[in-house]
Amino acid sequence: MTDNSRRKFLRNLGGTAALLGAGPLSTLAKEHVQLLKPDIRISANDSIRIGCIGMGIMGFGDVDTALKVPGVEFVAAADLYQGHLDKVKEKYGKNIFTTRDYRELLNRKDIDAVIVATPDHWHDTISIAAMEKGKAVYCEKPMVQQIEEGHKVIATQQRTKAVFQVGSQRVSSIALAEAKRRYEAGEIGQLNVVEARMDRHDALGAWQYSIPPDATPANIDFDTFLKDTAKVPFDPTRFFRWRNYKAYGTGIPGDLFVHLISGLHFITGSLGPERIYASGNLVQWKDGRDVPDVVVAIFDYPETKTHPAFQMTLRVNFADGSGGGEYTRFIGTEGVLELGWDDFKIKKHKLAAAPGYGGWDTWNTFTKATQDTFVQQYNAKYPADQRKPAQRSEDAYAAPRGYDSRQDHFINFFESMRTGKPVVEDATFGLRAAGPALVTNESYFSKKVLHWDAQKMKIV
Ligand SMILES: NC(=O)c1ccc[n+]([C@@H]2O[C@H](COP(=O)([O-])OP(=O)(O)OC[C@H]3O[C@@H](n4cnc5c(N)ncnc54)[C@H](O)[C@@H]3O)[C@@H](O)[C@H]2O)c1
Repeated sequence: MTDNSRRKFLRNLGGTAALLGAGPLSTLAKEHVQLLKPDIRISANDSIRIGCIGMGIMGFGDVDTALKVPGVEFVAAADLYQGHLDKVKEKYGKNIFTTRDYRELLNRKDIDAVIVATPDHWHDTISIAAMEKGKAVYCEKPMVQQIEEGHKVIATQQRTKAVFQVGSQRVSSIALAEAKRRYEAGEIGQLNVVEARMDRHDALGAWQYSIPPDATPANIDFDTFLKDTAKVPFDPTRFFRWRNYKAYGTGIPGDLFVHLISGLHFITGSLGPERIYASGNLVQWKDGRDVPDVVVAIFDYPETKTHPAFQMTLRVNFADGSGGGEYTRFIGTEGVLELGWDDFKIKKHKLAAAPGYGGWDTWNTFTKATQDTFVQQYNAKYPADQRKPAQRSEDAYAAPRGYDSRQDHFINFFESMRTGKPVVEDATFGLRAAGPALVTNESYFSKKVLHWDAQKMKIV
């Protein structure tokens, strides 16, 4: 929002606006909502001006998605690799402000919101600095790389009241909203197991991303990338394939489990597991990485007001010679909800009240007379309607073709900035999703079963 459009916005608010004073859009929108009515919108001319910090794969993807939302303007980018800043100008135009120093971007008064799409170890510092500067923040998942960092992000958001949303787009998916409705309607009976796998078998899927030929110390601010981690000599592999190192990334759990956990928490209203155990191995991609390429984890979710106790098992195998594949299943006593990214199937299998007899059963070992008596008593005990076989049915839901939950996630984010309505995925939700993923790593490296207090978001 420019100063000019902000003034126009204030004028449009009428008399009450005078009370507001100048301030960032998020604050204005919130106060505006509290003082006037909750659904008012700024005019289409009052665009939200965004900057993106971290212009890698996701930075470009997020900017492209954000720009599909009407009334959004991309004005600035920060990145540590010169080639990405040059690509920004090549793709979005020479007028985009670019810098290697994200603080320069945050110092600009004409930027209302920032996307944080850096490697995981920079999420907390940049998000906190951005909120302190009055910016709204769309922070990519996992929200943080360390649990304590998450508490600092939550505290900063609560103090500054900045609009802060984590980027697990599934939480905004219309398919997940429908799955949640069906889960709450009891369509699968009592949930007892959640199981998911996201297996792959290709080098890019195992994070061996391409390294540009101009990856030189002159083009990359490698020292800043390292942040507070151990000093190592310039290494483009670490810089472009940071996911493979626990100093900068969060391994398979932070990269992939976190999506599954976010979806699960959204659908069930769960706050998190109470016990976590992970096992794994480095099988195939021995390229210097210090994180496993196979991880299997068990999460025990306790009974709460919104769900019964259940177990979740998650598996990612980057050495899957069967060719890879994914599924996420919510298994209940009366059916299964099989979740895709923006679609799902519900297969029902509702047992008859009568247990049945015959088949693989002792009934076959009874004498003829005993069998007859048994059947007589059985039929008396279970009327005909209770003797029907198990009922099976199947139905499916898919979001319309071309649907993109990431776009809805950005719409929700900008809507929160404009109207003050709560974000769909706040910092507490973000830490409740990232926390169990980070504990999974701790369990893998310590080889211990770990206990998690989902309410307080701490290892106990
Ligand atoms: N929501 C999703 O579906 C999804 C998908 C992929 C990645 N992500 C998340 O997005 C983030 C980025 O992942 P990616 O695949 O785009 O990585 P990437 O390596 O392609 O991009 C990261 C970029 O950040 C830059 N960078 C590093 N430190 C920086 C700093 N201090 N200041 C400014 N720029 C800095 C790097 O130069 C690089 O261009 C990760 O946290 C990842 O988990 C989310």
